[in-house]
Amino acid sequence: MSGALGHSVLWLLLLAAGEVAALEPVSVGLAIGVVSAFTGYLSYEDLYCRFAECCVAERRLNASALKQDLEEKLFGQHLATEVILKALVGFKSNKNPKKPLTLSLHGWAGTGKNYVSQIIAENLHPRGLKSNFVHLYVSTLHFPHEQKIKLYQDQLQKWIRGNVSACASSVFIFDEMDKLHPGIIDAIKPFLDYYEQVDGVSYRKAIFIFLSNAGGDLITRTALDFWRAGRKREEIQLKDLEPVLSLGVFNNKHSGLWHSGLIDRNLVDYFIPFLPLEYRHVQMCVRAELQARGVTVDEDVVTKVAQEMTFFPKDEMIYSDKGCKTVQSRLDFY
Ligand SMILES: Nc1ncnc2c1ncn2[C@@H]1O[C@H](COP(=O)(O)OP(=O)(O)O)[C@@H](O)[C@H]1O
Ligand SMILES: *[C@@H]1O[C@H](CO)[C@@H](O)[C@H](O)[C@H]1NC(C)=O
Ligand SMILES: *[C@@H]1O[C@H](CO)[C@@H](O)[C@H](O)[C@H]1NC(C)=O
Repeated sequence: MSGALGHSVLWLLLLAAGEVAALEPVSVGLAIGVVSAFTGYLSYEDLYCRFAECCVAERRLNASALKQDLEEKLFGQHLATEVILKALVGFKSNKNPKKPLTLSLHGWAGTGKNYVSQIIAENLHPRGLKSNFVHLYVSTLHFPHEQKIKLYQDQLQKWIRGNVSACASSVFIFDEMDKLHPGIIDAIKPFLDYYEQVDGVSYRKAIFIFLSNAGGDLITRTALDFWRAGRKREEIQLKDLEPVLSLGVFNNKHSGLWHSGLIDRNLVDYFIPFLPLEYRHVQMCVRAELQARGVTVDEDVVTKVAQEMTFFPKDEMIYSDKGCKTVQSRLDFY
């Protein structure tokens, strides 16, 4: 077959493959197999995944890439880095998980909870938050009206079910979990449990990530105790924070989050604390943001922006009020 003809056949089949991306992979696979036989240099995945985003349930997590990402991009969060790495590597290397992976991220605003979720998402599905297999829900945005809870519940259950049916390794991120109505948490609960299947769908390869500020004040207090005792931030260990979190989050009946019994039933696999950020971390955020904008890093600007942030407690001024949250918008003035 001539090269030109080979290529037009290829394009026709590719167009077809693109349009029927939802078609079961076998038939698309066959079509691509035929094309590959003609052209001889294209692999199944190369082709199929170029036109339709692929959900490769068995895609291996590149642990060293995730480690590198966390260590280079996430500042001042040694505990989160450690736990997230361990949790994801363990979960992704388990061929038969007994339940979906559920992470609960806690900490002050602007300390990197959304940011780390984005890093996790990108390491699981290359298109990250833009992937068809990664879903971000923000309580106040997606579920704002209390009188519509019933509707939200039905909708969300339908979405999770539909999305996990389409891609077992789907990722669901819930931001502002502490503002989420307990009724909605109840609606998610069955998916997080140890069931083999729920109505014929298995949720065991999915990942749920909950973000909240709950416990942030207590985490901050612990960090402050360390600082006042002259101990290094990096010396803080999980066991220093576990009792703190359990008091502030697990047993706090006012933290709406836990009315739903997620805790009692042990459905959350890892509680991950985010420490408050210090002046030096804010500086690092500014540098990173300048680099991301392709601007040379001017230390004067770094200092100016970092100094504009507000710090607490009043006497010592150690931790940034909003973490790194407003760094980006402040930089627009320079
Ligand atoms: N620990 C951190 N390391 C690096 N960048 C951070 C960190 N914390 C916050 N940032 C920056 O600040 C922005 C806002 O943080 P975000 O993750 O949204 O905070 P939140 O904890 O409230 O979810 C992020 O997009 C990121 O650029
Ligand atoms: C994993 O990531 C590392 C660092 O980014 C990269 O050098 C390596 O090639 C990757 N390995 C695989 C199998 O993709
Ligand atoms: C997947 O979830 C999104 C919302 O995150 C929703 O719009 C979409 O309809 C869901 N897909 C299926 C197949 O249910």
